[in-house]
Amino acid sequence: MRELVARDLETARLRTLSLTELDEPELLRQHDPLMSPLVWDLAHIGQQEELWLLRGGDARVAGLLRPDVDQLYDAFKHRRADRPLLPLLPPVQARSFCLEVRGRVLDALDAADDEQLFTFGMVVQHEQQHDETMLATLQLRQGAPLLGAGDPLPVGRGARLTADDGRSGNDVRSRAGAVDSCLVPAGEFVLGVEAADEPFSLDNERPAHVVDVPAFRIARFPVTNGQWKAFVADGGYDQPRWWSARGWQHRVQSGLHAPMSWRPDGSRVRFGVVEDVPDDEPVQHVSWFEAEAFAGWAGARLPTEVEWEKACAWDPAAGRRRRWPWGADDVTPSRANLGGSALRPAPVGAYPSGASAYGVEQLVGDVWEWTSSRFEPWPGFAPMVYDTYSAPFFGGDFRVLRGGSWAVAPSTVRPSFRNWDLPIRRQIFTGLRLAWDA
Ligand SMILES: [Fe+2]
Repeated sequence: MRELVARDLETARLRTLSLTELDEPELLRQHDPLMSPLVWDLAHIGQQEELWLLRGGDARVAGLLRPDVDQLYDAFKHRRADRPLLPLLPPVQARSFCLEVRGRVLDALDAADDEQLFTFGMVVQHEQQHDETMLATLQLRQGAPLLGAGDPLPVGRGARLTADDGRSGNDVRSRAGAVDSCLVPAGEFVLGVEAADEPFSLDNERPAHVVDVPAFRIARFPVTNGQWKAFVADGGYDQPRWWSARGWQHRVQSGLHAPMSWRPDGSRVRFGVVEDVPDDEPVQHVSWFEAEAFAGWAGARLPTEVEWEKACAWDPAAGRRRRWPWGADDVTPSRANLGGSALRPAPVGAYPSGASAYGVEQLVGDVWEWTSSRFEPWPGFAPMVYDTYSAPFFGGDFRVLRGGSWAVAPSTVRPSFRNWDLPIRRQIFTGLRLAWDA
């Protein structure tokens, strides 16, 4: 496990450095008030690594930075909108600070006992989460493209999405029942995981416990751009009947009329590149309110996060959980779109070998999937060493997202992994999947 942690630390760092290999003005500028300047993320990665692995999680313990500089990287102290005004470390100093911390951390890893390895894994996940955040920042950035087109992805099987007829896959509403879906019969399953089985699971994924889930159907694939175009064309953004009262108010106030980054001429901007919106790719950059409205229009609903996890992880024949939807084998490029190098979701149907026991595909990777659930602790929740990771957010206005996006590292997502955000947010790589009562 020590070797795995060392490798994951290295993988995360290479990614961080490649994402911040930019001219100083790009790193210092705030590309959107929702996001930090990239140079804040960079030094914050090193500051948190030092705090958790070299300072015992206690900010009063002296570190490499002066206390007045160290506290600039406390995410609870400074709102993202205010971060460009802080006297942040310049990029060169931020990089050398991260390098210095990492050298000491690798020494600490050699000396760590098994119990301490969890904290190293937690720090890996933190760095990878910030790498995804930096990609979200770069997606909001205006200007000529900085990243390439992205690595190639497997082809989809969009033309065979529905079995019943040969019409285009766009008219979801009149054919809601014909959206290719999988039945998950009623019954108990084990929700959540134990540290013994998933050593790097975070506190909110634990403990494992049995829940009984009524039968439901869940779409085989995430909702596509083509389906979303049909929603737009049918006046989905103009008719309050598909929206909750709060959702409609937000739609009007924010002037929403399509997913973020779509343009009126049918194109979209992806990391500065203008391109056609591909019909068979999962829709991304939609808020929870938009997802809720789409599901209503389609004659469906969002799955609960419990339904989502059962469809993803449960093996009904074996009567136990699978490590991944497909089984125990590691993530490969033929099973899921993870790791961030593609810079976009894969077309639906691209990963038949990534299907869950119930036949549901693309649950892991591609897009974070909004669920109907609010973020709450599982019964028996116990905070981990970073005790403000989850607990301050329970009981708030947060909705749970599942499965990870194309920008998430394999070390940072599991079928039990729970992400959360406010229902208005759509700068992250969010999509949805439909569900129905059965
Ligand atoms: Fe952070």
